[in-house]
Amino acid sequence: MPTSDEDSKKINILIPEVRLQQRVQELAQEISHDFKGKEIVAICILKGSFVFFSDVIRHLDMPMTCEFLGVSSYGNKMVSSGEVKVTLDLNEPIEGKHVVVFEDIVDSGLTLNYIMNTLRARKPATLKSCSLLFKPDALKVNVDPDYVGFKIENQFVVGYGVDLAGKYRGLPYIGYIEHGH
Ligand code: PRP
Repeated sequence: MPTSDEDSKKINILIPEVRLQQRVQELAQEISHDFKGKEIVAICILKGSFVFFSDVIRHLDMPMTCEFLGVSSYGNKMVSSGEVKVTLDLNEPIEGKHVVVFEDIVDSGLTLNYIMNTLRARKPATLKSCSLLFKPDALKVNVDPDYVGFKIENQFVVGYGVDLAGKYRGLPYIGYIEHGH
């Protein structure tokens, strides 16, 4: 059902809030199971992942520390610039640690590919990635998140942390902007 938002763009609901929350819990259960008996470093990729991250970590059942990595490649554009910029680095070394990276979306894959290569060079004991959304048809590099919430079609989505020119991050669901609006 279309709904309107602050810029009066037509946003259609793609993944409703209830379904999102259910899947977030399932992902947390999977990760908790796979890392049973271990302590992890959970890394939130800013800005887009902050909503997903804050929900998923509350369902993780293991000792954990939280780190934040700021990266940006879209700026105010709808197509990735292809150039990934680190805007905030981790506070702690991850050498020898079990690390799980949380992303909101893998689109071209350029951001996650860059992040995984950068973090792998810091020699963690384990390095896994979890993306709430994954667009297999939009990939430009070969990257395969270890945990995926939803595979979606190649459409521009917003909400639940995901922005369009900085807006719509606060929507509690994943929506897409109707073509022509
Ligand atoms: C978005 C999103 C992912 C990335 C995915 O970040 O949060 O990190 O793009 O796209 P890709 O697979 O094509 O690289 P963005 O650069 O818009 O910054 P933001 O997280 O601050 O919104």
